[in-house]
Amino acid sequence: MAGNRTFTMIKPDATGAGHTGKIIDKIIEAGFSIKAMKWAQLSTSQAQEFYAVHSERPFYGELVEYMTSAPIVAAILEKDNAVEDFRTLIGATKPEEAAEGTIRKMFATSIAANAVHGSDSDDNAKIEGEFHFASTEVTA
Ligand code: CMP
Repeated sequence: MAGNRTFTMIKPDATGAGHTGKIIDKIIEAGFSIKAMKWAQLSTSQAQEFYAVHSERPFYGELVEYMTSAPIVAAILEKDNAVEDFRTLIGATKPEEAAEGTIRKMFATSIAANAVHGSDSDDNAKIEGEFHFASTEVTA
């Protein structure tokens, strides 16, 4: 059975452009409830660890530099079928492939600066949520 929580980050391009509130509105309108949320500046070592799975990829250095270039908003979200429904809401990784009405279609500017992150599995949603939040910071 699909899990009911996912993890997201609103990325530096979107926080810097003042899109944070609009993106949070879209997330809530789509039926997600917020279980934890924080505005934070990632350090280089945090970004390297969070994206360690991509460490052999040619874009890893650029990704870490970008994710530490300005604050992010991290959040744990709840809804039935959360991981899949959130990925539908945000759209494809490449903004030019993102469907009309998706968050990335509206706010992403490139594959790197693609406005939001969404976990790709229930297991990663748990790992990523626990990376950013202590259990005492997450509401029931
Ligand atoms: P996300 O799925 O949130 O997490 C991994 C990120 O790597 C992905 O979003 C993209 O922003 C980024 N990414 C993937 N492919 C590339 C690429 N070719 N160049 C730069 N960044 C990339």
